[in-house]
Parts: sequence; structure tokens; C-alpha cells
Amino acid sequence: MAQETLSITDNRTGKQYEIPITSGTINATELRKIKEDPEDFGLMTYDPSFMNTASCRSSITYIDGDKGILRYRGYPIEQLADTCTYLEVAHLLFRNELPTAPQLTDWEGQIKQHSFIHKNIEQLIEGFRYDAHPMGIFISTVAALSTFYPQASKVLDPEVRRQQIRRLIGKVPTIAAFAFRHRLGMAYVYPEDDLGFIENFSSMMFKRGTKKFNPPQTLIRALDTLFILHADHEQNCSTSAMRGVGSSLVDPYSATAAAAAALYGPLHGGANEAVLRMLDQIGDVKNVPDFVKKVKAGEGKLMGFGHRVYKNFDPRATVIKRLADEVFEVTGKNPKLTIALELERIALEDEYFMSRKLYPNVDFYSGLIYQAMGFPVDIFPVLFAIPRTAGWLAHWQEMLIDPEQKIARPRQIYTGHDKRDFVPMNQRH
Ligand code: CMC
Repeated sequence: MAQETLSITDNRTGKQYEIPITSGTINATELRKIKEDPEDFGLMTYDPSFMNTASCRSSITYIDGDKGILRYRGYPIEQLADTCTYLEVAHLLFRNELPTAPQLTDWEGQIKQHSFIHKNIEQLIEGFRYDAHPMGIFISTVAALSTFYPQASKVLDPEVRRQQIRRLIGKVPTIAAFAFRHRLGMAYVYPEDDLGFIENFSSMMFKRGTKKFNPPQTLIRALDTLFILHADHEQNCSTSAMRGVGSSLVDPYSATAAAAAALYGPLHGGANEAVLRMLDQIGDVKNVPDFVKKVKAGEGKLMGFGHRVYKNFDPRATVIKRLADEVFEVTGKNPKLTIALELERIALEDEYFMSRKLYPNVDFYSGLIYQAMGFPVDIFPVLFAIPRTAGWLAHWQEMLIDPEQKIARPRQIYTGHDKRDFVPMNQRH
């Protein structure tokens, strides 16, 4: 039988090493045994941007990038998107199982109970400039929650953890809606007891005066589906930030704020906003070929295309495209859809994009849907952050109870000066 080991010969010393292979990986610390002399630190791996390094074991989300497979706790994303609610999926992410009917009622009740925010948090949001980017408000406000719940620092206590998870899931839609209304100078709308999670968020965003906000069910369902699609995506940039920052045992509000900051960037959750700005910049279908030419010449990227892991198609994009048709039937077609479809058509036939395996990702069409639903462009990253909070916290919890995890602390290859002596100011030039 073939051995599950890797044989390494160090040609510097002629020594041989047997490194065990488990789950298709070798443990990087095993390489430390490989030394030129006993005083050596031992061999390290160099992997900028973590292109080929597993930093944890996780049972939350499975992705096969070549086959375009995405599963939460074993369930295919397409099935969850078709049939579940976001809160059911959040329960699945945290507790490993879909909830029974009584469990779901209980879970929904707990989340609702935590949807209000302290008056002082409201005042904090008031302090931002009228034109502050809602994602900046979101990140800062989530961080500020740690000052309201100091007991959250007891991160090794499972009940304390559960409490903060319910709080964060409950409060992030309220913070998002308040950030949105602040810039419009509109009075805040508080959560209402008789509304579900998505209905409540929509009401807090769009309700005017005392009239109940009653959007078509298709739009509520579409938002629920979009939240499911965005709930988790294993070790992406923001989740890695959550795990890395959380590994210092800081409270989950500070760690979530760090994750949200990572999400804000245009290469990650900020891409949905960037796609809409790109479509605005292109302006007309006739300008698409010129735009593609510029992208190929290295003048900018085709936002909403490409993925570190998916090299065939992004299964979330497939669901979203179908969803777009349903939404546009209610809202009317987003005029930018024609430009997006033409961009996609050209890109999918073009050698540049084909050879680099660049396909539309989750962000290519989600922004068009959000815009058709009435969300302004700069709230898009926040719409990503609300459901991803579930994924971040599920990973945070998993990391804290994993006995193999320690404070995240990568190594480096030092490239600076060798030791040199201090130069007094009057001798420097
Ligand atoms: N447009 C044009 N060229 C691209 C694009 C793009 N969107 N993405 C990658 N490339 C090129 C890149 O220039 C490189 O070309 P070359 O080999 O000639 O240097 C090649 O494709 C490989 O790209 P890479 O930068 O090594 O790939 P990566 O795995 O480091 O980056 C990515 C992945 C998602 C950051 C990148 O594809 C990108 O910037 N896409 C646009 C931003 C975007 O849509 N982000 C949302 C990602 S999905 C939602 C989420 O989970 O955040």
C-alpha cells in the first residue's frame, strides 16, 4: 500500500526526512526539523497571500472551486437558496443543523430581542457627517458595541459567546438601516415585533411616516436569498481577518469590526459597489468593447469578475442571475443590465478572460438587483456585511474551541539591513 508520507532529501546536507501527509496536506511545522545545522531555525514555507496554505480545519463551508461547488454544513447552496430563510441558514452555520420548527421560532425570537440598539449608539451614528460612507459608519458602530457589553471580553465562556452572537446578528441590520437614514437626514425607524428579519430590515430602511412598509413578497424573498448566498464563504479575506484578530482573544465586536473593514475593500465585499460605478463609467453598451480593451491593457479590472477559488463558475452568481430576472419582473429592468450582459458576453468569449479563468462572481449581478430594489450604491458593501456576520461569528466560535489554534502569528523573510550602528543627526545625509 502507498505510504501517506512525503520523502524529502535536503541536498544541502544529504539528510532524508519523512513527513506525514494528512487530508492532502503536510504540517508546515514538520519542516522545521529540516536544518542545515542544529542552530538553524529550520525550513519555513513562503506563501504570500496564502495561495496554498490551510490555516485551520473547518466543518462549516465546503468549496470546490474547479467544479463550482459551494455547501454550508454539507447542504448545496442552491437548495438552501431555494428553500430556506437567512435565519435558518445562520442557525445551520452556528449549530451545524437546520433548525426544527420550534427551534427556528425560538432562534428568531432571540434575534428579534436583540435588534434594538442603545440610545447612545444612535447618538454615535448622529455624530458622523451627513455624507459619511455607510460602511465606515457600520465598521465604527460595530466596534463601539464592545464598550456597551464589556462582559463580551470573556470569549472563552460558551454562554457569553452565544449571547454576543445573538446580539450581533440582531443588531447589524439596525445599524445598517440607521447608517443609511442618517445620511438622508431621515428619522430612524425602530424594529417592530410583528415583522420577520428581512421585513424588519426593509422597514427600518424604507418606511416613511407611520404607514406600514409593505414591499412585494418577491423582493423580500430575493433579499432573503441574497443574504443566504452571502452568509459564508470559508477562509476569504474578511473571515481570515475575523479569525486572525479573534485569535488574540479580543471581544467579538472588535473582531467583527476588523472583518467588516477587510470586507470593505473593492477586491472583496466592496466589489458590488465598484461594479455599479464601473457600469456608470461605461455609460452605454457601445462603449463596452473599448472598456474591455482597456482592462486587457492593464488599465483597471473588470469588477465582479474573477475569484481566487472559483476557476469555472461561481455557483452564487448562477443563483443570482436567476434571481435578477424575478426581481426585474417586479421592479422593471435595471437600465445597466444591458451593459452588464454585453460585458459578460464579450468577456466570456475573450481569450484574455478565458485563459485566466475569469467568470462573473457573486458581485457582478447582486448590485444591479440591490439598485433595482431601491438601495443606494454605497450601502451595497453593508448589505454584504449583514449576512456575512453569521459566517464570521461561526468561524470565530469554531476557532476559539479548536485546540490546534493559537494566536495567529505568521513568519516573515527579513529583507532589510543587516545590523548597523546608529548615526547621530548631524552626520546623516
Ligand atoms: N479583471 C481583469 N483581469 C483580472 C481580473 C479582473 N476582474 N481578475 C484577475 N485578473 C487577471 C489578473 O490581472 C492576473 O493577470 P496576469 O496573470 O496577466 O497578471 C490574472 O487574472 C490572475 O489574477 P490574480 O489577481 O492573480 O487573481 P487573485 O486570485 O489574486 O484575485 C480577485 C482574485 C477576486 C481579487 C480578482 O479576480 C479581482 O480583483 N476581481 C475583481 C474584484 C472582484 O470582483 N472581487 C469580488 C470577489 S467575489 C466576492 C468576495 O468574496 O469578495
